[in-house]
Amino acid sequence: QQLNYILAIESSCDDTGAAVLCNEKVLSNVVAKQEIHELYGGVIPELASRAHQQNIVPVIDVALQKAGISKSDLSAIAFTQGPGLMGSLLVGGSFAKSLSMALHIPLIAVNHMHAHILAHFIDEEGFDKPTFPFLAMTISGGHTQIVKVNSFVDMEILGETTDDAVGEAYDKTAKILGFPYPGGPLIDKHAQNGNPKAYAFTKPKVDGLNFSFSGLKTQILYFIQKEVKKNPDFIKENIDDICASVQHTIIRILMDKIKLAVEQTGIRQIAIGGGVSANSGIRKALKETETKYGWKTFIPKFEYTTDNAAMIGIVGYHKFNLGIFSDDEVVSKARLEF
Ligand code: KG4
Ligand code: ZN
Repeated sequence: QQLNYILAIESSCDDTGAAVLCNEKVLSNVVAKQEIHELYGGVIPELASRAHQQNIVPVIDVALQKAGISKSDLSAIAFTQGPGLMGSLLVGGSFAKSLSMALHIPLIAVNHMHAHILAHFIDEEGFDKPTFPFLAMTISGGHTQIVKVNSFVDMEILGETTDDAVGEAYDKTAKILGFPYPGGPLIDKHAQNGNPKAYAFTKPKVDGLNFSFSGLKTQILYFIQKEVKKNPDFIKENIDDICASVQHTIIRILMDKIKLAVEQTGIRQIAIGGGVSANSGIRKALKETETKYGWKTFIPKFEYTTDNAAMIGIVGYHKFNLGIFSDDEVVSKARLEF
């Protein structure tokens, strides 16, 4: 079998990522996190672009070094074309384009949302790969989608959020509770010690396979404000129960929709992806469906859940095999069609 070395670059939001793959195996996967945004409780686009520009060369150098190869060994360069923050995408996209021209190797544009799904095709011991067609639920800070995946390049969105993404619901709740950004992992941590039935939040009514999370966020805000008025220490005294109850509600929303998607399509292979797929509660709830309903579920390795370049690389590898390359005029797109 021919060995292809793909360098992948991810810069859609606030993490600068570079990875090197040899076919379906990850040789290195480097991420520079931008801590600056914690100070502001959210990502500041201009600061993100600047940090990408500063980090991109060292991150790529480290990725090549860890993979034990040099630039001249590369077969192609894959990069995140979108969706994401325009200024962030431009840094990775322009760099990838220039490097591919300098090395005279093909350039491959990758859809970030496809990458969260196709991360399941990375060769990893102990991790099975789904077979087409399968259902994917991508849950991240920017997106919440249920997708029917027909092939490496053919995917249909069956449902998505009509307002906030599920990660935003986590992060905005975390902000209300006084956690630093991004607060999703902290809610998850506290939820594990709390009572999920302590407080009841109502699920939004949304037709079909679509989602809505902005009402839930408002509901939580009003609830907390009301309780804090009665007892200023309410949050501190009940943080575990609050987090467990919020998490329980979110998991119910997600699981109900994925159940409906299985009913509608008859497809019983379910993969999750995106930052929120790191969540312990959603992982557990999904796993339980294997014995409960006989589904086959695919839960990504932890390092491939939040934004990373390895997932961009695996899409790059499959597009490389299919001969799908970008031309010199390819542009970054904040809203990239699916
Ligand atoms: O995929 P990702 O890294 O970036 C986007 O493309 O949006 O997802 C980031 C999101 C953030 O909202 C973060 O709070 C959430 O994923 N997240 C979690 C957990 N780990 C990360 N949410 C809940 N539980 C977690 N353990
Ligand atoms: Zn993402």
